Amino acid sequence: LFSAVEMAPRDPILGLNEAFNADKRPDKVNLGVGVYTNEEGRIPLLRAVVEAEAALTAARAPRGYLPIEGIAAYDKAVQTLLLGNDSPLIQQGRVITTQAIGGTGALKTGADFLKRLLPDATVAISDPSWENHRALFEAAGFPVRNYRYYDAFSNGVNRGGLLEDLKNLPARSIVVLHACCHNPTGVDLTPEDWQAVLEIVREREHVPFLDIAYQGFGDGIEEDAAAVRLFAQSGLTFFVSSSFSKSFSLYGERVGALSIVVGDQEEGSRVLSQVKRVIRTNYSNPPTHGASVVAAVLNNPELRVMWETELGEMRDRIRTMRLAMVEQLADLNAKRDFGFVAQQRGMFSYSGLTTEQVERLRSEFGIYAVGTGRICVAALNTRNLPVVTKAIAAVL
Ligand code: LMR
Repeated sequence: LFSAVEMAPRDPILGLNEAFNADKRPDKVNLGVGVYTNEEGRIPLLRAVVEAEAALTAARAPRGYLPIEGIAAYDKAVQTLLLGNDSPLIQQGRVITTQAIGGTGALKTGADFLKRLLPDATVAISDPSWENHRALFEAAGFPVRNYRYYDAFSNGVNRGGLLEDLKNLPARSIVVLHACCHNPTGVDLTPEDWQAVLEIVREREHVPFLDIAYQGFGDGIEEDAAAVRLFAQSGLTFFVSSSFSKSFSLYGERVGALSIVVGDQEEGSRVLSQVKRVIRTNYSNPPTHGASVVAAVLNNPELRVMWETELGEMRDRIRTMRLAMVEQLADLNAKRDFGFVAQQRGMFSYSGLTTEQVERLRSEFGIYAVGTGRICVAALNTRNLPVVTKAIAAVL
């Protein structure tokens, strides 16, 4: 049965973890996967999470099956975080949300539902994008194309290319957009860019699929939701995949959500019924723990403030690391100006390092980055930064 099975390539991101774990060098540094580690190099367990978990444990809650769409209080909290406290869409019942197995699970549920809805559609993702976007939509049966996005020369957005490509897609294409903290480049659209994208999406009747996995890591929780809210005000229908892996430091709990903005409440009931079928036939219903913790924090005013403070601390520390990285590389007379790193948002920097340079970082220095040159700046700290910057200067 299995004699003809070929060896699959290692996952470009998670595969790095396997290689990193097998590496025996004591001063190795993992800048591959998008995981925030603190100044001590550890994944933090947030104080708000610890408190919520203590209360949940004390309550000795039974672990029955959740509804297919997940915990109601969680789904509601997701909507508010994305669309704001006073969102008319929420009040009008125009948003449906289902708990998902992380942001990836939300994308996959949305992709499977869309395949039934628009079987002949094309999916468009940014060039470059998170590696799993292409794989995931292809696995759902869609042809996937790139739209131009990143301009390596200016380290900014190729605005003209982006808009032209969105215009030239077949009408009613599914367009995957990074709502904030673009993965892998860290380069986001300006409000004017978003407005221009929105106009084209409307004109070409594209289906926007906003992916927001880093809310709070750019400029703040509210600020980072600006693109989602722009689409919300537009009257368009759209999809949103969101995740608490990073913002709650709950990577392994797989806490995400799929939200769909629909035309009206009645349409919402029909759409929800179909999304529930997708979930039921994939994994039946979601797990309890992570979403219970997130719902407990978001729905308790004190814990919520505590979480927002901790999220702000993570955001500020990343920014400090970005600035320090730029400064150290300049002090080392690196053969390139890395000033752009300070302008980028979120956990990543598209460093401009070539595949060969990334390979040298790994083999000579035990520093792991994604082959495209993406480095996770959220994994830098004052101890490993000098090691990293010296190594980068050496491989340039
Ligand atoms: C990343 O891009 O590193 C994260 O989103 C983790 C993942 O699943 O790839």
